[in-house]
Amino acid sequence: MPRKIAAGNWKMNGTAEDLLQLTALSSAHPDPTVDVIICPPATLISQARTNAGKIGIGGQDCNTAVSGAHTGEISASMMKAAGATSIIVGHSERRTDHGESDALIAKKAQAAYAAGLVAIICIGETLAEREAGTTLDVMDVQLAGSVPDDATAANTVIAYEPVWAIGTGKVPSTEQIAEVHAHIRRVLKVRFADANEIPLLYGGSVKDSNAAEIFAVDNVDGALVGGASLKAVDFSPIISALEKA
Ligand code: 13P
Repeated sequence: MPRKIAAGNWKMNGTAEDLLQLTALSSAHPDPTVDVIICPPATLISQARTNAGKIGIGGQDCNTAVSGAHTGEISASMMKAAGATSIIVGHSERRTDHGESDALIAKKAQAAYAAGLVAIICIGETLAEREAGTTLDVMDVQLAGSVPDDATAANTVIAYEPVWAIGTGKVPSTEQIAEVHAHIRRVLKVRFADANEIPLLYGGSVKDSNAAEIFAVDNVDGALVGGASLKAVDFSPIISALEKA
């Protein structure tokens, strides 16, 4: 069985005072039976590490280089040194806002591996692609292009985040999630010997009210949560739902 993961992506939210949420989360879950990860903005990684107890800390993006003349950029090894153990790459907001290609995302994942970090690689279709019936084809292209050949169950997590479900309150049906996750598992099996162990997360408007239903879907090993990860009171029941799943 893949390990279960409840991951929170704070996106561009949070200053030092918000770390109280992390302290509250870690007191509510001093010994979680699933992996819990919070990805705060890079400015908070180091402080977050000291407030997080058994909660893992992750980054949200990285440059492909280790260091150098790249103003404004942060490398995977710098985030590792600050206390991160994982890093999100290929989030749809980066694909859209920064025009990130699958090839660039694969290089970022490799930069994460080289730094000793787990890459949480995000994929997902737009509403237009879903309506055109091309969701599984989009998954094929994104998996082929953005998951490096040296991915393993130890260094990689795949997050399926339909773009139209992110921050919208719209969630695919459990049948739709099951179809995509089964497809992702099949595609990974062709390339990776340990594909059955690679955690597959669902992301997009996950909340306390829908978490248990989503976690009951085959091949869903956890969630990547945006808005509902910002407050301990919202994220804690999602962690509990995964622990019970
Ligand atoms: P929401 O949970 O706010 O829909 O965001 C999902 C997401 O993009 C996590 O990376």
